[in-house]
Amino acid sequence: MILVTGGAGFIGANFVLTWLARNDERLLNLDNLTYAGNMENLAAVMGMDRHVFVRGDIGDTNLVSDLLERYRPRAVVNFAAESHVDRSILGPADFIQTNVVGTFRLLEAVRAYWKGLGDGEMGAFRFLHVSTDEVFGSLEPEDPPFTESSRVMPNSPYSASKASSDHLVRAYHHTYGLPVLTTHCSNNYGPFHFPEKLIPLVIHNALAGKALPIYGDGRQVRDWLYVEDHCSALRRVLAAGCPGESYNVGGCNEKTNLEVVKALCGILDELAPRADGRSYGEQITYVRDRPGHDRRYAIDASKLMNELGWAPAETFESGIRKTVVWYLENQKWVGNVTDGGYRQWMERHYGT
Ligand code: NAD
Ligand code: TYD
Repeated sequence: MILVTGGAGFIGANFVLTWLARNDERLLNLDNLTYAGNMENLAAVMGMDRHVFVRGDIGDTNLVSDLLERYRPRAVVNFAAESHVDRSILGPADFIQTNVVGTFRLLEAVRAYWKGLGDGEMGAFRFLHVSTDEVFGSLEPEDPPFTESSRVMPNSPYSASKASSDHLVRAYHHTYGLPVLTTHCSNNYGPFHFPEKLIPLVIHNALAGKALPIYGDGRQVRDWLYVEDHCSALRRVLAAGCPGESYNVGGCNEKTNLEVVKALCGILDELAPRADGRSYGEQITYVRDRPGHDRRYAIDASKLMNELGWAPAETFESGIRKTVVWYLENQKWVGNVTDGGYRQWMERHYGT
């Protein structure tokens, strides 16, 4: 069995669904269902014997220790985190609590469990920590993409909290020998993405006839990866990664935010045209920039590709089209997550 934390969120749920569809191993899913956790994401596997869902906090040492003793996983994949940069600017405390303190407590519980395993099981055990390219800070236009040895220079409370957790994970390997793996992935997109993030927000607002908010000049660059490609990379790292190593994950898809939003508008114009026949692009609205907004992220994933033989299956064009189709076909899901709490956040962040 493997233990997945944060498996009701965007990437975690995609990982859980694809994991259970691909092999016979059982999966214990620990998630405390914050605003970003959604049981609807897991509807397809909720009746399945091989999927055990537990609502709980990664920082709850007693609970995590009990679960580890009871289910005896051979690996932990740690997705659980607060993940939205804008929320971290408005209120960093939850990010420190879950991403730093929570990861520390999880590591402590895992270390105690791991020390009690037999020799063979100890060596085979893995703690895979899912991190982000944002820990490396911001690139200039001509800089080469981030490698695994790029300097860690986080700029937002979110990325600083993730970098802190990365350091703890690294230290648990160096000091205690815990067989850890860390991945740094670029921006993901795809099904079950909460509509506070750029791509699902733009699809949602476009269809609702609302403004498509572009921060600043919209020329910030992100390196987009379809979420299932991130999941396949994580499976590969878990199976073949070398303990103590970190791996960058990305699909060589650098795009400005404006390019992304225009691509979305183009696909929506084709698949769900506006009643008045005009383009969704007319809803693009420039708004105040995010404080400390990182200008560019780009990932060099050649270590993962060359050493572990991973490659993404989707191009940006194929992945973004799949994503728009998924949102068009799952408007009920969108309607269910854009409840009162979501609307309060939108008003607080964007104003009316
Ligand atoms: P998300 O916000 O959609 O989901 C996070 C999940 O973690 C939710 O289900 C939430 O309920 C759960 N959670 C939060 N705090 C918890 C706690 N204390 N205990 C247990 N569960 C808790 O996030 P996501 O976009 O799916 O990201 C997952 C991981 O991948 C994060 O660690 C994030 O830093 C990393 N990451 C995300 C991206 C991206 O583009 N979204 C890119 C690279 C890395
Ligand atoms: P986001 O999806 O929040 O991911 P991250 O901040 O982790 O990269 O944002 C992606 C990019 O889109 C980022 O440069 C900020 C920008 N953005 C907007 O221009 N408007 C928006 O309303 C949002 C949510 C993001």
